[in-house]
Amino acid sequence: MARWLLHSKPMRLLHCLLILLVWSVSCTDFDDLFQSNWSPDHILIQQDHVNLTLDSVSGCGFESKKKYLFGKASVQIKLVEGDSSGTVTAFYMASEGPNHDELDFEFLGNLSGQPYLVQTNVYANGTGNREQRHTLWFDPTTDFHTYSLFWNRHSIVFLVDNIPIRVFETKGESGVAYPRNQAMGFRGSIWNAGDWATQGGRVKTNWSNAPFVATFRSFDIKACELEPEEDAEAKCGMPRQFWWDKPSLRGLTRHKAHQLKWVRARHLVYDYCKDSVRFTELPRECT
Ligand SMILES: *[C@@H]1O[C@H](CO)[C@@H](O)[C@H](O)[C@H]1NC(C)=O
Ligand SMILES: *[C@@H]1O[C@H](CO)[C@@H](O)[C@H](O)[C@H]1NC(C)=O
Ligand SMILES: *[C@@H]1O[C@H](CO)[C@@H](O)[C@H](O)[C@H]1NC(C)=O
Ligand SMILES: *[C@@H]1O[C@H](CO)[C@@H](O)[C@H](O)[C@H]1NC(C)=O
Repeated sequence: MARWLLHSKPMRLLHCLLILLVWSVSCTDFDDLFQSNWSPDHILIQQDHVNLTLDSVSGCGFESKKKYLFGKASVQIKLVEGDSSGTVTAFYMASEGPNHDELDFEFLGNLSGQPYLVQTNVYANGTGNREQRHTLWFDPTTDFHTYSLFWNRHSIVFLVDNIPIRVFETKGESGVAYPRNQAMGFRGSIWNAGDWATQGGRVKTNWSNAPFVATFRSFDIKACELEPEEDAEAKCGMPRQFWWDKPSLRGLTRHKAHQLKWVRARHLVYDYCKDSVRFTELPRECT
């Protein structure tokens, strides 16, 4: 539990508090938490933000040095401005291997002035194909907004500025797999998906507008952290050990459930659970 809260070193805490008071930014060093796993030369690490760049040569990405089982992670992102067609910026968690678990936020770019879409997906035991797509209630390219993943043994909640946009719940003994025993790392990236991302692939990446830059800052991970060889379930799997196991966090509060309803009514534009063209028989968790 040593680094459960990242600001564990007393001096760093003091330093962070001072910075918080003065500039109101989080000051966990990017290099303490993350390393590049793709094209480090396209990642610009500054003291208070990190820029991920996509150009015609390459995109780029980073991943956490540690892995985590249950908890909450947030990051603030300012997405690619102007014409971002064909670009995808992502913040996600993933484990390794063919039966991997993964929780995705993917931000699909668009022409200037046209709305971004947020695509979320959940992989459990190697099975994904659980896309939902939402529009946002703000322009995500003009300011930073907070995107969070909350994950405990009962549910996974995707949040935007602390408003839930999606909940994926465990289905008990129904045979639908749920991410519960594989530690996942946090990752961020930007890449070219001109063949599908924008307006179904009709609008391609316009390289004359490159480089495309997305800015990440204020990483906040409050999760059960594991060293590479540690047994995930032994360390993090014991119920009632952590704040995210509180009974009140088994599901959404009434207020949050109300917010989710509002988001679904106003901003949900695609839900795999409603796609009977794609699935002749809807996935089991949809019913
Ligand atoms: C990072 O990208 C943002 C655009 O999102 C830009 O305003 C900022 O100047 C960039 N930082 C550096 C150090 O180039
Ligand atoms: C995960 O998938 C494998 C097949 O790929 C299956 O044998 C196993 O039972 C599944 N595990 C769970 C927990 O669903
Ligand atoms: C881009 O804008 C068009 C037109 O407003 C919209 O139909 C589409 O959903 C938007 N987002 C993406 C990622 O294509
Ligand atoms: C690509 O962007 C350039 C510069 O903004 C613009 O002049 C051009 O028309 C765009 N091309 C397409 C195919 O939209």
